[in-house]
Amino acid sequence: MSGKPPDLTVDIGPLKLKNPVLTASGTFGYGQEFNDLVDPAMLGGIVVKGLSLRPRPGNPPPRIVETPCGMLNAIGLANVGLEAFLKEKVPWLQKLHTLVVVNIYGNSIDEYGAVAAGLRGVDVVDAVEVNISCPNVKDGGMAFGTDPDITARVTEEVLKNCDKPVFVKLSPNVTDIVSIARAAESAGAHAVSLINTLTGMSIDIERRVPTLGNISGGLSGPAIRPVALYMVYQVVRSVGIPVIGGGGIMDYRDALEFLIAGARAIQVGTANFVKPRVSLEIIDGLRKYCRDRGIAEIEEIIGTLNT
Ligand SMILES: Cc1cc2nc3c(=O)[nH]c(=O)nc-3n(C[C@H](O)[C@H](O)[C@H](O)COP(=O)(O)O)c2cc1C
Repeated sequence: MSGKPPDLTVDIGPLKLKNPVLTASGTFGYGQEFNDLVDPAMLGGIVVKGLSLRPRPGNPPPRIVETPCGMLNAIGLANVGLEAFLKEKVPWLQKLHTLVVVNIYGNSIDEYGAVAAGLRGVDVVDAVEVNISCPNVKDGGMAFGTDPDITARVTEEVLKNCDKPVFVKLSPNVTDIVSIARAAESAGAHAVSLINTLTGMSIDIERRVPTLGNISGGLSGPAIRPVALYMVYQVVRSVGIPVIGGGGIMDYRDALEFLIAGARAIQVGTANFVKPRVSLEIIDGLRKYCRDRGIAEIEEIIGTLNT
């Protein structure tokens, strides 16, 4: 083949990504924390920490514990809130020259809409990712993302208030993720991303107390990869909108599994804590995989699983 490097660009609805590698929400901050190690301009994009209308302190410590092949976190969606985000983080994000996705959440459907409305006209924000994994206080504490009707209502509310493409981020803590993905699609979502963390706990056997201050937390890392991959596989076959896949991706081989299953882009989360430059290594690995096999465009790989 010619010396031309493989084309890694992918489309997610109306967005064009330089390559299919995004950093996952909550694991890469606003890019600031990784600035000396990773040039965000090299990435397909970054998904910033979950943003709420008002600042949130998060859960009591301890908030993170290691588990076999992964970690449990109960950060509790701590964040600066919309006002400080616009004042303090947006000027920083403007310098990054990368695609910026803002992950949002609310305690009510109206609050989701209000956060989306607050981002209207903010040029640096390329897309909004709606985290529907948090508890819906008004409807009895069940997460928004466990009910197809509520998923659709949240999606509609965000779309009504938003001037960007909307991704809905699905929770794996459900019986049938396909019905939730279809609800998001029917409500007009431009893409779905999956998976968020799986709920779990761990116990300190000396003190006989939960290790996490919040009792339960979200499991992430390689332990969840097979679950995530199967959910992505199922959702890809069931919806027409783009699917962004992730969960336990540690290297380019893991990323390829998700792309072959049909994800059009991938998110790297926990791996950033282990190896801050991992997302760049994944991009290099994808490029080499394509080059070594004479594949001119990464698009040629997406959704090519033989079953
Ligand atoms: C410390 C931490 C914080 C996270 N914060 C968020 C968040 O604010 N919003 C969200 O939608 N997902 C959040 N996540 C979930 C990740 O974005 C990702 O979906 C999940 O960890 C699975 O991917 P991984 O196994 O590659 O980490 C968080 C995960 C971790 C580990």
